[in-house]
Amino acid sequence: MRQPEAKDFESSGQAPRRGADRADKGMEDRGGFQRSDTGGNRNIDHSPSSKEQHLSLTADQYKGIMARYPSGVTVVTATDTNGKDFGLTVSAFTAASLEPPLVLVCVDTSSNTLPAIRESQAFTVNILEAGKQDIAIQFASKDSDKFLAVNVENTSTGPVLVSGVVAYLRCRVESQIEAGDHSIFVGLVEDARVIDESRQGLLFCDRAFWRMVAVD
Ligand SMILES: Cc1cc2nc3c(=O)[nH]c(=O)nc-3n(C[C@H](O)[C@H](O)[C@H](O)COP(=O)(O)O)c2cc1C
Repeated sequence: MRQPEAKDFESSGQAPRRGADRADKGMEDRGGFQRSDTGGNRNIDHSPSSKEQHLSLTADQYKGIMARYPSGVTVVTATDTNGKDFGLTVSAFTAASLEPPLVLVCVDTSSNTLPAIRESQAFTVNILEAGKQDIAIQFASKDSDKFLAVNVENTSTGPVLVSGVVAYLRCRVESQIEAGDHSIFVGLVEDARVIDESRQGLLFCDRAFWRMVAVD
């Protein structure tokens, strides 16, 4: 039996620095945040002054660590109240609950897509297919015409990409949490579909895009 978690990866190209720095982005300003050794949980002081006094992880160290964590790649879309479509590449997407089905996405507060998610209280997560890093790069840009080269099906939660996607989830915003320089949107999945069971998702790790190779 094939173990789904037992994969290794083949790189299919480097992401552009701008996009690849997503996990990095914003963290530069924070300058790291981990406490140095406090001698165990009993002694942890969560006050801001304590955090400032105990900074030991630099932004570069944090970025380097997070770069080693493999993730899938999605395009999160939303449509504002004027009917304009927005979308950005997001790797910070995860399942949060099975019952009810909840997912969460983390969106940079500087994102042009964020106001559309807030306004519509909805978003669509398009899970990109292996080999479709061109779409990831396109939606990691700040171009105003990101949707020109892609076919979409418009939905009430935001566009579903017609090709290059292995599955999508259409979500209503259940709650929003402000977390530093990102907003975390928890979405209740109201509609979801696998487009093609035979295809696998695109991976992102170590600032590059990869495809999966099963280890059996
Ligand atoms: C592989 C990859 C993953 C990314 N993940 C995220 C993410 O999880 N959250 C986020 O806010 N930005 C992420 N980005 C960066 C955004 O896609 C990028 O800032 C984009 O330009 C935002 O577009 P917008 O301002 O039009 O919404 C990622 C970029 C890449 C290349």
